[in-house]
Amino acid sequence: MSEPEKGVSFLQESLNANETFDAALRPLSFKDFTGQPKTVERLEIMVGAARDRGEPLNHILLSGPPGLGKTTLAHILGNEMGKNVRVTSGPVIERPGDLAGMLTNLEEGDILFIDEIHRIPKTVEEYLYSAMEDFKIDIMLDQGPNARSVRLNIQRFTLVGATTRLGLLTAPLRSRFTLQTRLDYYSKENLLSIVNRTCQLLKLEIDNDGGLEIAGRARGTPRITNNLINFVRDFAQQRADGKITKKIASQALELLEIDANGLDEMDKRIMRLMALNYKGGPVGLSTIAVAVGEEEHTLGEVHEPYLIQEGYLQRTPQGRVLTEKAYKILGLTGPAENQMKLF
Ligand SMILES: Nc1ncnc2c1ncn2[C@@H]1O[C@H](COP(=O)(O)OP(=O)(O)OP(=O)(O)O)[C@@H](O)[C@H]1O
Ligand SMILES: [Mg+2]
Repeated sequence: MSEPEKGVSFLQESLNANETFDAALRPLSFKDFTGQPKTVERLEIMVGAARDRGEPLNHILLSGPPGLGKTTLAHILGNEMGKNVRVTSGPVIERPGDLAGMLTNLEEGDILFIDEIHRIPKTVEEYLYSAMEDFKIDIMLDQGPNARSVRLNIQRFTLVGATTRLGLLTAPLRSRFTLQTRLDYYSKENLLSIVNRTCQLLKLEIDNDGGLEIAGRARGTPRITNNLINFVRDFAQQRADGKITKKIASQALELLEIDANGLDEMDKRIMRLMALNYKGGPVGLSTIAVAVGEEEHTLGEVHEPYLIQEGYLQRTPQGRVLTEKAYKILGLTGPAENQMKLF
């Protein structure tokens, strides 16, 4: 069997945060933030109440697939509260001392934003519990006979955690957040407003159909939307007069191998493999990962959630199963017996 070719798709590339580009387009207030009505309402209520009482905001956990606005919301919370936001991420906090250093530098009401909080080491996590609950941290100095513990008081701060893998968070850590809220993929209408906002900020000319074309292929994800716009802008300048129309957008996106449903080559490779080699499933994620030559966590975080949300894939206790809709899009006829097994 030949090795599947391994290349980084535009989709994967564009899900890696490009900090300068992201930051320039990041909404700064709730007013500017499109979509996620439930999450936004919950956060607005908490911010309003904390401000009225003159207290720091309670701890908040944001979860959801990459590029949907977790980091953006953390900064918005800081802006709306008028407090500083200190940013770090789970894997960077290697030792309890790293955490203590950060916590002791916070002022009252400041927000500590821990991205990828599921990747925080277990030894550090336990220190976080007392910091979150009692605003104290007991730290061990020295080792062996000289070892002693000192208690540091920290200002009442707000922990905002973000994770793409809620399931990997321990129950004790989860339970210490007052609010846990999940971001979902955006509707096409919401993405269209994001397209229009971004084009306005970048001073690009785009018509409504051009906007819809981009919104429809952006996999419900603002970060992908912005990156598609970036590429379509280049395309429009090089191949046309700079104006983004439906035709220009669609030609540019064809070139990126993103189809009219927002599916890229990897999505289709996954579905084809399941249909042709595994009779549509059930098949485990790790098996699919090996067969398509992609890392399991990328499949689990990027491809699978979108395929499930769009109804191409179902998750069952036995593994992943392809749906009739997936067979249709692949131009194959679905194995009826597999569909029967499901119900
Ligand atoms: N609701 C929104 N309205 C407008 N733009 C948005 C919205 N949400 C996100 N964006 C844009 O998408 C980009 C990515 O968002 P953000 O960095 O907050 O995602 P994330 O959830 O933190 O992703 P990751 O899990 O990869 O860290 C931001 O630069 C921002 O410009
Ligand atoms: Mg982020």
